[in-house]
Amino acid sequence: MAGGQQRKGLTLKKIEIQGDTGNSQIFVGERLENLASYLHQNQVVIITDDHVARFYQKDFPKIPVIRIGTGEGVKTLDTVERVYQQLIELEADRSVFLLGIGGGIVCDVTGFAASTYLRGVRFGYVPTTLLAQVDASVGGKTGVNFMGYKNMVGVFNQPEFVICDPAVLKTLPRRELASGFAEIVKHAAIADESYFTYLEKNAANALALDPDVLQQIIYDSVVIKADIVSRDETEKGERRKLNFGHTFGHAMEKTAGIFHGEAVSIGMMVATLLSVSKNMLTENEVGRIKSLLSVFNLPVEIETDKAGILDALARDKKREGDGIYFVLLSGIGHAVVEKITLAELEKVLYGIP
Ligand SMILES: NC(=O)c1ccc[n+]([C@@H]2O[C@H](COP(=O)([O-])OP(=O)(O)OC[C@H]3O[C@@H](n4cnc5c(N)ncnc54)[C@H](O)[C@@H]3O)[C@@H](O)[C@H]2O)c1
Ligand SMILES: [Zn+2]
Repeated sequence: MAGGQQRKGLTLKKIEIQGDTGNSQIFVGERLENLASYLHQNQVVIITDDHVARFYQKDFPKIPVIRIGTGEGVKTLDTVERVYQQLIELEADRSVFLLGIGGGIVCDVTGFAASTYLRGVRFGYVPTTLLAQVDASVGGKTGVNFMGYKNMVGVFNQPEFVICDPAVLKTLPRRELASGFAEIVKHAAIADESYFTYLEKNAANALALDPDVLQQIIYDSVVIKADIVSRDETEKGERRKLNFGHTFGHAMEKTAGIFHGEAVSIGMMVATLLSVSKNMLTENEVGRIKSLLSVFNLPVEIETDKAGILDALARDKKREGDGIYFVLLSGIGHAVVEKITLAELEKVLYGIP
């Protein structure tokens, strides 16, 4: 599935996802400047956002660029409509290739616009946030928000290629960077203890944006997500493990107004404590998870509107009967999906033995 090729400085690494909706090739350690060599189509149109354009449009190949604004508020059908309009103005036909260069929002909008314009045209991504490199660009989920509901409308479709250049992360705000590290800790915690140990040893270098360490981390995370996704492309079982920290995290995100990764960090702490209450995880392991999240500048204390979240979770769509499915850990590197009752969750949240 994965292979390496020596380049000057870094080693370009390639991961391939073979999905029902097509194959995706992910190149980790490629440079934005080399992008043109991946574009052989007659007509390519870039989709990006205003921040990314400000920093990097000078390095884009000289082809048309469609800009969307920034923030979760632009991930809408209105924005997708404006993309269609501009594609029509550019006389883009079925042979057009759409290239999303930006964070998860640009990737999700590009993938959805490409999957629907003229019943589907080819597309690829250059993810420019850490979260998009290790998560949003991998796995073939595309879509937009609708009526205030996140990712309500979308399709599964694999980008033809994904190019991850760790160098673009130097302009990323620190909180956005931390948000990406939350997903990275998640990958290690659910699937690979040796990767978790690697993160413990190399967190400082990763935060200092050491290119070799970042590349290794992005690669390892993509391999884990790609592997899980390949086994369960449309989220019937295995893929649910990627929701570690997200059941509680999503409920918190809605009420607390914090970054996604920060909410997931607290959600992972809740799931970790639930795992201890089920005798699946030791106190020592909890300590390791808490320390690693803290080193990455992520919140670990459950200081939040607990009653409000319990209420939200009680109405959660993942709820079945008197329980909610949570991803727990049976040791670092091993995830299991278990049904938790609201009473069990309440005890853990309030620290009741
Ligand atoms: N499709 C999936 O499987 C999947 C998975 C996870 C998340 N997502 C989606 O991804 C979105 C979040 O993605 P995100 O965290 O990348 O957010 P984002 O796209 O909003 O990017 C975060 C911010 O960083 C800016 N930015 C991007 N790259 C930059 C760079 N190199 N330098 C400076 N600034 C830069 C952006 O303009 C934005 O302001 C959510 O909408 C989420 O639903 C999708
Ligand atoms: Zn997430």
